[in-house]
Amino acid sequence: MATMVKAPLTGVERTFDPNELIVSKTDLTGKIVYGNRLFFQLAGYTEQECLGKQHNVVRHPDMPRAVFDLLWETIKAGREIFAYVVNRSSNGDHYWVFAHITPSLSSDGAINGYHSNRRTVNRSVLEQHIIPLYRKLREIEASADSPKAGLANSRKFLTDLLAEKGQSFNQFMFSLEQA
Ligand SMILES: Cc1cc2nc3c(=O)[nH]c(=O)nc-3n(C[C@H](O)[C@H](O)[C@H](O)COP(=O)(O)O)c2cc1C
Repeated sequence: MATMVKAPLTGVERTFDPNELIVSKTDLTGKIVYGNRLFFQLAGYTEQECLGKQHNVVRHPDMPRAVFDLLWETIKAGREIFAYVVNRSSNGDHYWVFAHITPSLSSDGAINGYHSNRRTVNRSVLEQHIIPLYRKLREIEASADSPKAGLANSRKFLTDLLAEKGQSFNQFMFSLEQA
């Protein structure tokens, strides 16, 4: 399988319509097994280029590791998570989404993959809350002695923030939407 060369970030944001959804599905290891037309269009890859690749093919460097760590912990435990995510297109553009990620279950109730639907973001929530929070988490991650320590520190920052608010991560996400 050819390695994908990542184009430098352009700073150009891609947008999509509020009545559209970006959909993808992965296997248990996070390899993409399905994407809808809009997913491939925004990611800037063909279906052939994406299928079988890890979902981090669209990972943007501004995304905190803590968010993905929490994401995987949550879905592996069989629960759903809602999160703001910024993704990187193949040409270096980016696009923000509000994602719902959930396990898919087989008829006997075992997790057999994962599924994500994403819609457009609330701009004021993004600018006033998410971008500053993610920047802070990234700073914490970058300032530690090792990636492992950075992740532990940023997870702790997030845990403390949620404890202070008395909210789960999903409750926090929806409280921002309603504020
Ligand atoms: C169903 C599903 C959808 C995902 N969607 C995205 C996504 O849109 N963007 C992204 O960067 N990571 C997404 N991830 C998380 C990636 O698997 C990965 O954890 C993340 O990109 C961080 O990559 P890294 O661990 O290599 O740093 C998704 C995972 C699952 C299970």
